[in-house]
Amino acid sequence: MARLGVNIDHVATIRQARGGMEPDPVAAAAIAELAGADGITIHLREDRRHIQDRDLKILRQTVRTRLNLEMAAAGEMINIALAVKPDMCTLVPEKRQELTTEGGLDVRINMESIAGAVDRLQGGGVIVSLFIDPDPDQVKAANKVGADYVEIHTGSFAESKDWKSEEQELRKIENAVKLAAKLGMGVNAGHGLNYSNIKKMASLGGIEEFNIGHAIISRAVLVGLERAVKDMVELVKYA
Ligand code: PXP
Repeated sequence: MARLGVNIDHVATIRQARGGMEPDPVAAAAIAELAGADGITIHLREDRRHIQDRDLKILRQTVRTRLNLEMAAAGEMINIALAVKPDMCTLVPEKRQELTTEGGLDVRINMESIAGAVDRLQGGGVIVSLFIDPDPDQVKAANKVGADYVEIHTGSFAESKDWKSEEQELRKIENAVKLAAKLGMGVNAGHGLNYSNIKKMASLGGIEEFNIGHAIISRAVLVGLERAVKDMVELVKYA
């Protein structure tokens, strides 16, 4: 059975909008775990636009399932990961201007630097996953640099405009999953997965963990709004 890793970056995004303490991603992680999440995923970006160093440190102490840290393969980030020791590090490409991670890592082109990052992290006892597009050459390159896992980027599947291209993207992902497994790597997947498209992806088989953020936090806002308004109405009317 596949596992669900809940990405809580957007909780921190709301907090950072006011620069205060609320909502705290540490509390969100605890609620996600109580609801059955198998893991918590956070992305510590170089520009610290959402998750902060303080969140990572506290989450390392409080997460009871597994903590997956997404980060760029940069020296500063590797030092932080080696100090905090998350259960898994998922290396992702990072551009300052992007709204979210736009594509997979180009492991083929950046073989040497990624191999160095994988080596350093594994040397510190951290399991390493590489976020890649469902491209057989990238899967092979990930294996060459010694990655324990790949996380297959499901964005093109999720953004497919019609049934035919969705099928094509699904087949690419299926082939990438099979190849990675054949080469002995574990396989995770994520990006753009939501309450409509997850069934097709989850029924592919062979994917250990799905990392999902935007859809879950978006739904939390909508399903939680009624209760939040009722609580405030009560305080305003019956003070
Ligand atoms: N996996 C990786 C590597 C990501 O960068 C992200 C986005 O932060 C996700 C999964 C989750 O994507 P989404 O928020 O679209 O569910």
